[in-house]
Amino acid sequence: MTDRLIIFDTTMRDGEQSPGASMTREEKLRIGKQLERMRVDVIEAGFPAASNGDFESVRAVAQSVKDSVVCGLARANDSDVRRAGEAVKPANASRIHTFIATSPVHMERKLRMTPEQVIEQAVNSVKLARSLCEDVEFSPEDAGRSEIDYLCKILEAVIDAGARTINIPDTVGYTMPEQFASMIRQLRERIPNSDKAVWSVHCHNDLGVAVANSLAAVMAGVRQVECTVNGLGERAGNASLEEIVMAVRTRQDFFKCDTRIDTTQIVPASKLVAAITGFPVQPNKAIVGANAFAHESGIHQDGVLKHRETYEIMRAEDVGWSTNKLVLGKHSGRNAFRQRLSELGVELDSEEALNAVFARFKELADKKHEIFDEDLIMLVSDDTLDQENEHFKLVSIQAQLETGETPLARVVISEDGNEKKAEAHGSGQVDATFKAIESIVSSGADLQLFSVNAITSGTDSQGEVSVRLSKSGRVVNGHGADTDIVIASAKAYLNALNKLQAGPERLNPQL
Ligand code: KIV
Ligand code: ZN
Repeated sequence: MTDRLIIFDTTMRDGEQSPGASMTREEKLRIGKQLERMRVDVIEAGFPAASNGDFESVRAVAQSVKDSVVCGLARANDSDVRRAGEAVKPANASRIHTFIATSPVHMERKLRMTPEQVIEQAVNSVKLARSLCEDVEFSPEDAGRSEIDYLCKILEAVIDAGARTINIPDTVGYTMPEQFASMIRQLRERIPNSDKAVWSVHCHNDLGVAVANSLAAVMAGVRQVECTVNGLGERAGNASLEEIVMAVRTRQDFFKCDTRIDTTQIVPASKLVAAITGFPVQPNKAIVGANAFAHESGIHQDGVLKHRETYEIMRAEDVGWSTNKLVLGKHSGRNAFRQRLSELGVELDSEEALNAVFARFKELADKKHEIFDEDLIMLVSDDTLDQENEHFKLVSIQAQLETGETPLARVVISEDGNEKKAEAHGSGQVDATFKAIESIVSSGADLQLFSVNAITSGTDSQGEVSVRLSKSGRVVNGHGADTDIVIASAKAYLNALNKLQAGPERLNPQL
């Protein structure tokens, strides 16, 4: 007998809590559609009370996704719960996920509430949520460091109040697999109404055991796992969706359960999330890393050629690696372009938006003859596409490089419609470009990260540059892509500056 394991994706909520990973409404729509295509059961689209922008994004995902449950997070208080209820209302199937901290340190120091007050607030919030939505999930935040007797008490009360999923978070990634599994077993055995709820876990990766903890919990009977694409999430991240899904799929004999995920959509989802957030995937990352299926040693290659199963426990094509194929070229027309975008889950809002991206595609096809899916995803993910409303725009750039000479960059940018020029020397062309831009904008921001990734192979590949800037406690990521990495870098830098300039303040649910 194979049970169903529910996959609850929180890439757009917990994943978005990674510094610099915040996503726009359009980006969330794109990720939401890809998660739906991958057949994720529940999509946690955000924390609607965080800001108006977050509310709108969750609402937009609720309107567009049809085949997955769309969920909004809410702290256990009336206004958060109402806001989440409002945001997910348009969905075909919706869920409110409400939570409150239950560990002694969180109750005393963060909430400054007594354990009895916490129970009362949790029960009231679950009741309110149930009055707004049939499907309600409750999480005792920091359960991993909470007292088991207290957890039994509060969880029994919230199940009575109508919670139908009980999610046990290891919020700070503190527990170890055996200990976590034993906690789950005790809760399920000791709570008299435990059979009225689906049990779930949500593990953080601070000690590198988020996936191990989640899988141990599956063995202890949980039937929902919360996870994120590429393991994105607060601090060291969450349990990675692709690892959980492929572990239970590959070892069904052991776990005796399976998911309904279309695993061929895993790699496209990973690439989309990496492109949108600018968090690249390490090459040796399980399942979605570029080397995950590459056999380097002669003995392994020989073995795989003789019989694939000598060294491979999964097939690359089963997780979507085969989609890396040539799709379009210089002579492809608008219809073929639109068709491929739609197969990739990209729906542009209007004909104008399609025309703008198509013009970019033609420019790119002139520079680069082979256009791959990754290039298309990058074209539509390019934050700099929506130049109209941007404060800073790149007008032109000229960079000089000569052996033995200090590199020089001349840039022209437009700031709120006014063109400004500057030039600067630097240790390389990118350094000179950033210095020239800074001499115009004087942002005073700290450059925390600069990374360049080739989007496809070959020297004509587009370079995807990510820049992380921080200023007065705010952290933003900027992205830019171009076949020239100096131009990609300038775009990424300006994109980050635009975000610093515009960024609305958002609440983090867990602070
Ligand atoms: O890590 C955590 O505790 C959370 C909860 C809101 C589920 O993200
Ligand atoms: Zn979390």
